[in-house]
Amino acid sequence: MTKETKKWWEYSSEGYQKECKIPVEIHYGPGSPNEKHLKLLGNLKNKNVLEIGCGGAQCGIAMAKQGAKVTGIDISEEQLKFAANLAEKNNVKIKFYQRDIKDLKPIKSSSQDIVFSAYALLYIDNIGKCFKEVYRVLKKNGIFVFSLDHPFFNRINPKTLKVNRSYFKNDKWVETFSDSSKKFVMYTRTISEIFNYLVEAGFIVEKIIEPDSRKKYKEDVWYGMWNLYTLKFLKMVPPTIIFKVWKK
Ligand SMILES: C[S@@+](CC[C@H](N)C(=O)[O-])C[C@H]1O[C@@H](n2cnc3c(N)ncnc32)[C@H](O)[C@@H]1O
Repeated sequence: MTKETKKWWEYSSEGYQKECKIPVEIHYGPGSPNEKHLKLLGNLKNKNVLEIGCGGAQCGIAMAKQGAKVTGIDISEEQLKFAANLAEKNNVKIKFYQRDIKDLKPIKSSSQDIVFSAYALLYIDNIGKCFKEVYRVLKKNGIFVFSLDHPFFNRINPKTLKVNRSYFKNDKWVETFSDSSKKFVMYTRTISEIFNYLVEAGFIVEKIIEPDSRKKYKEDVWYGMWNLYTLKFLKMVPPTIIFKVWKK
């Protein structure tokens, strides 16, 4: 549920940003090279870019530094405070909205050249609704590039490297803690399910990228973190999957 996710990020934002020290670059996530290597977005000068689930907006700020006109949306006030501060430090202007990305109401239809998202769509309960909204706000031939955790990765126990959940179990996944008021909620989906929601929204899928996580990338700040992104695990399964799709 969105409320639980919002609560999680209000509580964990400060610690997360301190721990990860994410550089101002366009990243795609653990085990993945960044935009400098993947080149999925093209020239950003004067492009209207919407970053959904922008968090600390390190990606959006990097895009603004390359001349894009960036808008960032996130549900968490704490994440947006961090983002606004970082934008100011980097001397760029970004318009931020605090809201659920399933509804992009403040963004005009057919106004964006690019919609971008790194590691936010795993938290969205109704991804189909979100994809339809992204389609609405994109210009004709506009692109939507997003990354999220690879659907195989979260089915495997990071310690034993054994499959611990069925690939076909597509539902809400809740991790609880000793403090019962804190819950980490994410949604697991198969690759075909994500693909089919994109097609249903009207998109043409250009590329699906599964970065080779057997290599270590300098820019991967999550490498080795939380006993999750371990070399042993990354050698077996990619943690990240990236989609590049177009509005017809
Ligand atoms: C792992 S962080 C990624 C942040 C940023 N994209 C990055 O790559 O550093 C996930 C972000 O998604 C945001 N988020 C989760 N659910 C959301 C929703 N329904 N609407 C808007 N933002 C959401 C969280 O608040 C958090 O900032």
